[in-house]
Amino acid sequence: PESITVGELALRLKATVAEVIKKLMQNGVFASINDEIDFDTASLVAMEFHAKVEKEVEVTIEEQIIDDSEDKEEDLETRAPVVVVMGHVDHGKTSLLDAIRHTNVTSSEAGGITQHIGAYQVKVNDRMVTFLDTPGHEAFTTMRARGAMATDIAVLVVAADDGVMPQTIEAIHHAKAAKVNIIVAVNKIDKPGANPQMVMEQLTKYGIVPEEWGGNVPCIPVSAKTGTGLNDLLEMILLVADMKELKANPNRPAKGVIIEARLDKGRGPIATMLVQNGTLHQGDIVVAGTSVGRVRAMTNESGREITSAKPSVPVEVTGLDSVPAGGDTFNAVSDERLARELVEQRRTAKKEEKFNARTKVTLDNLFEQM
Ligand code: GTP
Ligand code: MG
Repeated sequence: PESITVGELALRLKATVAEVIKKLMQNGVFASINDEIDFDTASLVAMEFHAKVEKEVEVTIEEQIIDDSEDKEEDLETRAPVVVVMGHVDHGKTSLLDAIRHTNVTSSEAGGITQHIGAYQVKVNDRMVTFLDTPGHEAFTTMRARGAMATDIAVLVVAADDGVMPQTIEAIHHAKAAKVNIIVAVNKIDKPGANPQMVMEQLTKYGIVPEEWGGNVPCIPVSAKTGTGLNDLLEMILLVADMKELKANPNRPAKGVIIEARLDKGRGPIATMLVQNGTLHQGDIVVAGTSVGRVRAMTNESGREITSAKPSVPVEVTGLDSVPAGGDTFNAVSDERLARELVEQRRTAKKEEKFNARTKVTLDNLFEQM
C-alpha cells in the first residue's frame, strides 16, 4: 500500500498513537489517528523509532521465477508448424504419418490401435514440420482435445470408404474449439469402395466446406498405402503454415506443454514435452504442473540424445520428481528452491480443490436424498 493510517503505523511500530502524532508534528505533519499518511512520511517516522517500514509488494513465486515478458518483434524467428493428425479409429492416421516419415509405427502398435500421442519432427522440402499422432478410439477424447490445443494445424483424416464417423465429428469440434486451421486428408482412395465426394458432402454438414466448393478447408485425396497425394498434403501444410507466419523467440527460457507423461521403472518419470517458445536445455530447472526437476536427459523421437530443443520441437525428458499430467504447461525457471516452493503451493491448492469438490458432491447427494 502507498499509505497507512496513523493508528496502524503506531500499532506496527509498537508505539502509542500519541508518540507517533508527536513525531509527525516534529516533522511538520499534523494528523490524527485515522488520517492516512504516505509511505515516505511513514518511513521517516519509523526511522525515528529505529524501525523500517517495508513497502508491501506482493509478488507471487510465479512472477519471480517465470519469465513472462512479451517477445520483441526483432527477437522472433520462424518456427516449424505443429500439426495434429486426428480422425476416427482405423481411418489411417498412423499409416499416413508412417508414410510421411517412411517408418512403420502401425505394425508395432498393440492391435494396430494407437494408445498415446506420438510426436515426430519430419523434414519436408528442407523445412521442419512437427506432427502429433492421436488415437481415434473413443476412449481418448482428452488426448484429442490436448492435441488440438497444442497445435497450429489439424489434419483431419477421413477414410473414403467409411466416411464421417463419431470421432471425426468430435475431432472437428476440438479443432474448432482450439481455433486451429483444418486440412482434410481423404484417405484410402486406393480402396475399391472409396468415395471422396461422399466424404466432402458429409463434412459440409459439420461446417467443413471444401475449397473447391467455395469454402475455406483444403481437402486432399490421399492414400497412405500407395503414397498418392502425400506430397500435395505436405505442400498444403507448408502453405497454411506460411500464411500463419508462425514465430517464436528461441533465446529465452523454454515454455510449452506436456504432451504425455509416464513412469518408467528404471528412468523414473518421463515426459514428452513440446517446446512452444524459448529453448529447453539439458540441466534446466523445469516446473510442469505439480512436478519439478532438472532436465536430466533429453531425447528426440528417434531416441537420440540432444542437449537443447528449440520452439516446436518435441522431446522426451527425464528428471522430473513426479509424473505431470498431459496438457499441463511447463516452464524453465530461474531458481530451484522457489520452483520447489511453487510446486508445493500448487500441490496444496490441488488437494484443497479436490477436497472442496468432494464435499460439494456430498452435499448434492445429501439434497438428492431429501
Ligand atoms: P487408430 O490409431 O487406432 O485410431 O487408427 P489409425 O487411424 O491410426 O489407423 P491405422 O493407420 O492404424 O490404419 C488402420 C488400418 O487401415 C490398417 O490396417 C492400415 O493398413 C489401413 N490403411 C490405412 N491407410 C490406408 C490406405 O490409404 N489404404 C488402404 N487400403 N488401407 C489403409
Ligand atoms: Mg493410429
